[in-house]
Amino acid sequence: MVGLADSDQKTAPLVLLVSPKGKRYLLRLQPGAHWSTNLGRIAHDDMLRKPAGGIVHTHLGTPFLLLEPTLADLITMISRRTQIIFPKDAAHILFQLSVQPGSRVIEAGSGSGGMTTALAWFVRPTGQVFSYEVNEQHQEQARQNIVKVGLEPYVTFHQRDIQDGFLETGVDALFFDVRSPWRYLGAAKEALRPGGRLAILLPTTNQVGAVLRCLYEMSFADLRVEELLLRRYKPVPDRLRPEDQMIAHSGYMVFARNMIEDTSDWLPVQVRRYLSRRQLATQQAAQRGEVYSDENDDPILQEPLPESDG
Ligand SMILES: C[S@@+](CC[C@H](N)C(=O)[O-])C[C@H]1O[C@@H](n2cnc3c(N)ncnc32)[C@H](O)[C@@H]1O
Repeated sequence: MVGLADSDQKTAPLVLLVSPKGKRYLLRLQPGAHWSTNLGRIAHDDMLRKPAGGIVHTHLGTPFLLLEPTLADLITMISRRTQIIFPKDAAHILFQLSVQPGSRVIEAGSGSGGMTTALAWFVRPTGQVFSYEVNEQHQEQARQNIVKVGLEPYVTFHQRDIQDGFLETGVDALFFDVRSPWRYLGAAKEALRPGGRLAILLPTTNQVGAVLRCLYEMSFADLRVEELLLRRYKPVPDRLRPEDQMIAHSGYMVFARNMIEDTSDWLPVQVRRYLSRRQLATQQAAQRGEVYSDENDDPILQEPLPESDG
């Protein structure tokens, strides 16, 4: 039987312990150390001798499953200072952005590093994530979380307001989880390679409307707005039924591709009509000596949500 200590990992193994009541604990095993809870104590050496998939007991006799953490475990168990992405949304975004080994991906903002973890996991071993964050404390938290899971070689952190633009060009994909992404689409266009993929996570429909308007005007195309609902079931064979509570809403996802040519004659007729009306409103406002802005029409967009809500 090959124990965790014998695996080819260069760093100490990261393991997940699951209690009989389903409580989950993430820890990095170090020879000679001990792990303690109110259910008792386990020597790290006992765990290092076992392979993943085994059961370890505390000195009080409580059994724990000994497992390798999944990416979903790593994301949901990180220390956080901000709202973090849900694994269901992260998984869908990774698919739509087609993130793969070797991809160069920009993320704005890092937050607590939840999505950074997912992106770094998939760009390994030859790709890189460029993660932007304006708040120093948030970025430090994200950095610590990335170091904890050993993904730091695949992430470049920039402590920078994305209002000042991105430092990379020709990236394959770009992901926004900031409160007013429509303000930074020009910078996104400059950073993305032709045909590059864009994903945006937004908590409210007001924000989705604002983003769509700007995406159409800036020749992003192949737009999609999606939301994923996930329902968990109680895994009891003869009484199978959904959990009593579910997360009814996490966020809306907007996907688009960066086009290098003007898309106006490709657009659906409804969108073209909308853009003409908007152009007219802009001209009429200019004649009155005013600047037309959609944000003027929507108090929520003028005064965006608190930072932690994205
Ligand atoms: C909801 S959090 C991101 C959470 C992250 N996706 C995760 O899974 O942990 C939004 C982050 O964007 C950052 N942010 C907001 N506006 C920004 C800007 N203009 N430039 C850089 N970062 C910004 C905030 O400080 C905050 O940490």
